Amino acid sequence: MRELNDSPLSRIPEFAALQQHAQQARQWQLADLFRQDAQRATRFTVEAAGLFYDYSKQALRDDTLALLTAFARQRGVETLRDAMFSGERINTTEQRAVLHPVLRLPRDARFEWEGEELVGEVQQSLDRIQAFSDQVRSGSWKGFSGKTITDVVNIGIGGSDLGPAMACAALRPYVQRGLHVHFLSNVDGHAASALFDRLDPETTLFIVSSKSFTTQETMLNAQTARTWFLGAGKEHDLSRHFVAVSTNAKAVADFGIAAENMFTFRDWVGGRTSVWSAIGLSLVIAVGMEAFRRFLAGAHAMDLHFRQAPLENNMPALLALTAFWQRQFFGTSSQLVAPYHQDLALFPAYLQQLEMESNGKHVTREGQPVAMPTSPVIWGGPGTNGQHAYFQMLHQGTDTVPVDFIAVLKPAHAFLQQHQALLANCFAQAEALMNGNPDPQQAPHRHCGGNHPSNMLLMEELTPFTLGALIALYEHKTFVLGALWDINSFDQWGVEHGKTLATRILYELQGSTTGSLHDSSTAALITRAKNVLN
Ligand code: F6P
Repeated sequence: MRELNDSPLSRIPEFAALQQHAQQARQWQLADLFRQDAQRATRFTVEAAGLFYDYSKQALRDDTLALLTAFARQRGVETLRDAMFSGERINTTEQRAVLHPVLRLPRDARFEWEGEELVGEVQQSLDRIQAFSDQVRSGSWKGFSGKTITDVVNIGIGGSDLGPAMACAALRPYVQRGLHVHFLSNVDGHAASALFDRLDPETTLFIVSSKSFTTQETMLNAQTARTWFLGAGKEHDLSRHFVAVSTNAKAVADFGIAAENMFTFRDWVGGRTSVWSAIGLSLVIAVGMEAFRRFLAGAHAMDLHFRQAPLENNMPALLALTAFWQRQFFGTSSQLVAPYHQDLALFPAYLQQLEMESNGKHVTREGQPVAMPTSPVIWGGPGTNGQHAYFQMLHQGTDTVPVDFIAVLKPAHAFLQQHQALLANCFAQAEALMNGNPDPQQAPHRHCGGNHPSNMLLMEELTPFTLGALIALYEHKTFVLGALWDINSFDQWGVEHGKTLATRILYELQGSTTGSLHDSSTAALITRAKNVLN
């Protein structure tokens, strides 16, 4: 735990007050907080955009919340939020605005930004996507031999993969029958090879999705797909089987995809928040534009709530403040996300990019060292599977891991008993983590200490609307945490460093002399691989 009493932070009265309060809070037992306050379960909840958030199982009281919101105000969370929504270039290291919420504004809205009206452009792009996706869905878009498209492959990585892949899985009941949407992200040729074995080039459509259209993994997979396709079709058939989504028109043209097969978006859409843009094309093909518009509407409802609700009653702000409270003052270094819904299995992986790529930073927006621990490790997977694997460590291990439980009250299937068991397990885990099993007679190895905090997020049904709201909730949570830490949540220079080194090593594996810049371990590994490959 990094609590630097002599740091500039401690000289901020709101932070110092939190520090002092935390000393008491670390002594609290969650179960006692419930005994002392009969209203706790109703008071520490908030509802918005079809989501219900219960944060009563966090180690906080009214005075804690007052201190946390005071600190948030001191850090300028609301000012930064308003700056984002008004289009200021708050991504200072890349001089970009952060305007993905504009993608979810309703058709009749208007948004002026630096002399341009953006909603008209966004709606035009959606109309083009709809026209194309309707053709694929209806079967009127034919492959080169006149057959209907049955398989769509999104080739992309990071934000150009995780958003549509996660949302396609989450909205499985809405996916058109007979249409199979696949996601190829890994540069590992085993992934391409396993996928192509199952596909027919005559009935496959590739969407090459890359904001930059320079990402090594995506470009290599796209080239491999092209070569595979040309084993059956001719060059002039490519236009029936390859489309692109990118901001880089020149690179798309150089790859050989014509302008009419390209869908664009703007650089004010970050990769990890691009599912709302043309990057969502594979999702639109899967579920249709009507469902996609409801997905956008759910996110927009969360945007409105985030902009308008006071911090004390603001779901994304509260989700962030509870995370900050844990991370800063209780020393927790990881956060488990446990969706009790099989179709949300990819949600933790999606959040890993959203939160860790955004907030895994070590300097402030002014380039000074951050005097606080920033992003925790985000991890997880679907309950109840986790209960029979890593939950043991949560109950009896030596670390505290806060949990976000996510559950859906109404299932999209008819197996009521199974759904009841699923929900029973979800609620039981939250209860068990909080209360433990304090029986003084029992053997030590049976003892569960409890006092582990968790959040419970509920929605009545998992629909395009509630999924949109859920994703936007976590986007804004991530934003608020970035503001509290005073970091730029919108760049990812750490990733760039690895990319540069990989490019250099790739040349070496392909035959160039191994550079003297490498350490002896890396140099030996390269040589060992070269000996096998060449
Ligand atoms: O991993 C870095 C990153 O730039 C992500 O932010 C992004 O989502 C991903 O690579 C893919 O980038 P692109 O869409 O440009 O191929």
